[in-house]
Amino acid sequence: MRVLAAIGVLAIVVAIAAAAFFFGGFYSVAASQPQPGIVASALIRVRQASINRHAVETPPLSLVDVAVVQAGARAFAQRGCTNCHGGPGVGWAKFSEGLNPGPPDLKEIVDTIEPRQLFWVIKNGIDMTGMPSFGAIEVPDKEIWTIVAFLKKLPTVSDQDYKAWTAPASSGTQ
Ligand code: HEC
Repeated sequence: MRVLAAIGVLAIVVAIAAAAFFFGGFYSVAASQPQPGIVASALIRVRQASINRHAVETPPLSLVDVAVVQAGARAFAQRGCTNCHGGPGVGWAKFSEGLNPGPPDLKEIVDTIEPRQLFWVIKNGIDMTGMPSFGAIEVPDKEIWTIVAFLKKLPTVSDQDYKAWTAPASSGTQ
């Protein structure tokens, strides 16, 4: 009985100390400092588990269709993804270096992420990071799926292909 009481008291003390630490402003939310290792690894695990559980949709179109991939490249450019993630032959905006967590180089990670997971991330964004929800600004699901098709192809897209696919239709004669 005494042990249980001691555990109870200890739990209350820990809760009060944690509340004082976090609500008292001692935890730093600065993006200019790396997160403490335990926070960073907890965030990555929570993100991966959350995306995996929520991402259930299946593509309504062919992800290997050339026209779909090219439409996805245009959407990727027009929706501003390159500002943070860069693209083939396109550098990211300087401000994205100040994001923490930083935006990944997508061509290096897309092989390990399933289409349903890419779709979910683009549609819903990632809370408390710089990754916006494109569903929240009413980008249609179909357009998001074209971006998924483009991303799955990304590791093999050359700078020239990307330039040609994203060029305005009228400049094709130059
Ligand atoms: C304002 C900056 C910003 C823009 C614009 C942006 N992203 Fe991101 N994105 C991020 C950041 C930051 C992360 C990393 C989040 C994290 O580590 O949890 C990220 C992560 C991702 C991921 C990886 C998710 C994972 O599971 O690891 C994908 C895929 C992605 N973005 C795709 C896109 C696409 C496609 C667009 C355009 C439609 C886009 N992003 C626009 C900042 C941005």
